[in-house]
Amino acid sequence: MGAALLALTAPAGAQPVGATDVPTLIAYEVAGDAITGPLGGTRGDADRGAKLVAERQKSLCVLCHSGPFPDPHLQGNLAPDLKGVGVRLSEGQIRLRVVDMKRLNPASIMPAYYGLPAGERVAATWRGRPILEPGEIEDIVAYLVTLKDE
Ligand code: HEC
Repeated sequence: MGAALLALTAPAGAQPVGATDVPTLIAYEVAGDAITGPLGGTRGDADRGAKLVAERQKSLCVLCHSGPFPDPHLQGNLAPDLKGVGVRLSEGQIRLRVVDMKRLNPASIMPAYYGLPAGERVAATWRGRPILEPGEIEDIVAYLVTLKDE
């Protein structure tokens, strides 16, 4: 009821030429504004998630978000502060926002980290594969739910 089962696979021809490690996206179920179950079935590790959120090569979270992370003077202000996000949002709500914010706000500037949109908004190098692996998404979710201080 109200849940859509999404079987996502990379569109034919979208894979980078020569790439042998292109994963098939695993299906996830969106219920309302949440993905209640962990991607791939296993919850993540909050310490690894904290590192992923703070790093600046891949996740880029701190380009837009501030929060209780290292180097506050280098954090962006294009997005809500993630302080207290574990109080404002449930685990499943956080998961959907990291997986694909554009489902909730098609105009969002936040990348769909596991959403695989049709291509226009995704840099060429990322076409056909998600920005983060399911395990990395789960590590980040496991960390963000611990941010309870507002
Ligand atoms: C390019 C900028 C950008 C990047 C990079 C980005 N976000 Fe966002 N994020 C946003 C914006 C803007 C919003 C506000 C929602 C919207 O777009 O409508 C948001 C919202 C969120 C929310 C919901 C917050 C709330 O209080 O409602 C979460 C959780 C979140 N982002 C987590 C992340 C994580 C984790 C990363 C890195 C993996 C990340 N974001 C990377 C721009 C960004």
